[in-house]
Amino acid sequence: MASLHSTRGLLFVFTTILLFLSTSAPSSSDNRLQIPFQWKPTSLLSKAGAFEELTNCKTHTLGLSEPTEIALTNSAERSINSNNRIYHHDFVVLRFLASTDSERRILKEITHKRRFDVWSSTREHIDICLQEKDIPKLFSLLPYSLQKSHLLLIPHVQVSVNQTWSHISTSKQSFNVKSLNETYFSNYQSLDTIYIWMDFLRALYPDLVDIIELGNSYEGRKIQGIKLNGTPPKEGKKKKTILINGAQHAREWISVSTVSYLASALVSGYNQDNDIKNMLDDFDWVFFPTLNVDGYVYSFEVDRLWRKNRQPTGFPFCTGIDLNRDWGFKWPEEEDSLGVNPCSERYQGETPFQAIESKLLAEYIGNLKDHDHEVIGYLDFHSYAQKILYPFAYDCATTPPNLEDLEELAIGAARAIKQSNYQHYEVESACDYDDYGDKNGGSAVDWIYNQGAHFSYIIKLRDTGTHGFLLPPDEIIPCGEEILSMTKFFSKFISEKEGFIH
Ligand SMILES: *[C@@H]1O[C@H](CO)[C@@H](O)[C@H](O)[C@H]1NC(C)=O
Ligand SMILES: *[C@@H]1O[C@H](CO)[C@@H](O)[C@H](O)[C@H]1NC(C)=O
Repeated sequence: MASLHSTRGLLFVFTTILLFLSTSAPSSSDNRLQIPFQWKPTSLLSKAGAFEELTNCKTHTLGLSEPTEIALTNSAERSINSNNRIYHHDFVVLRFLASTDSERRILKEITHKRRFDVWSSTREHIDICLQEKDIPKLFSLLPYSLQKSHLLLIPHVQVSVNQTWSHISTSKQSFNVKSLNETYFSNYQSLDTIYIWMDFLRALYPDLVDIIELGNSYEGRKIQGIKLNGTPPKEGKKKKTILINGAQHAREWISVSTVSYLASALVSGYNQDNDIKNMLDDFDWVFFPTLNVDGYVYSFEVDRLWRKNRQPTGFPFCTGIDLNRDWGFKWPEEEDSLGVNPCSERYQGETPFQAIESKLLAEYIGNLKDHDHEVIGYLDFHSYAQKILYPFAYDCATTPPNLEDLEELAIGAARAIKQSNYQHYEVESACDYDDYGDKNGGSAVDWIYNQGAHFSYIIKLRDTGTHGFLLPPDEIIPCGEEILSMTKFFSKFISEKEGFIH
């Protein structure tokens, strides 16, 4: 009876909280920007000095000035409302189709030097978020070919931001496991709600669900995950772990929902779906929906486009370490690495594992290994691009020893996604993906692979640029469905390699 009562209590708390968090679509005022597409090319790179006042999507300070060599922020232009929210009115996202190496190099140099917020960078294109008024200045630095080959990807960033920010709902909803889709997964959820949801799952499935605490983030928030236990390992046998996390990068909200969706689906499917039962009986599953808890909360409450964690750096006005550049395998030592600048979105920290959150996860992984539950498979969810990326990220010159298996699994995983929802996810090496035109040392996927998790992947979720990080909440469930289908394949593949027979 006691446990029934506590379940009801949680149910009540959860329902109440959801009332405040469910979506009601914001009305988008239709004052669409007129983006002039024909810029007169002025003299090119000689104009660099004119750039000093450029603003980009990630201006870090609240009305305070930065050291001069990195001062690109005109704080007067950023509007901050009474809730301390940073708005991105008049910001757009442009996609440049860079077809040659020299075009890529020029774009890379400019975006790096000027600290533009690069949303996505592949061999085919670079997406840049900037203020509309800065477009002519950017164009004055670009060769004519690049000026011509661009698209306006997101014309009104703030409208899209508003659509993903939570809004108070007046509709009353009851909540139970069967209605998870309509309540919890109808919107992006705050960290508090995610933790209540974890308690709820544990209360409903006490034999299956454990809550894990990694420790505290820089700002002192608990980093919680859930662990699913099927049958215990046979006497004297190891049971290996599949580890899944979202939100190393705060603004990639779909990664958080997707990891939550996977955990829900595995819990509720255990007694109903034989594939899922095998998944949980063969492996322990550990889910951290939000590794970067501080950044995630900040992206809910202040700046929707925040990426890094919230740890201070050597520069007082440049906060945050990029968790996915901070891991201690092939951490970039070169002085010209993009990640050495604390104000960069790719700041790697002063030493490997300086970021508390990545350090805690690494320690947890080491601990699993010491206790016969070593990680064999790892999925690191990000957005956006729709790609399945395998190691190594740091360099294309080194081939992972089990490349064939990695590719075979990835191709099957992409097929499973397509069969589920007709979405196309490309398979590539993480080094080919070429994030920001730089080598990607210090990544979680490489570190964890190097620890012996030989089926480690980065999954870049929806979409391919229409909404970018600002994916509408009605894509949470479809994205969850296709990734559940992918994860079933992933698990089955590893089970077969491990010699499980079903
Ligand atoms: C976004 O939402 C805020 C707060 O509700 C509102 O003040 C602002 O006008 C909205 N902006 C756009 C572009 O819709
Ligand atoms: C709800 O989610 C579950 C997985 O948790 C899925 O199997 C089911 O089809 C979904 N239902 C609806 C109505 O979308």
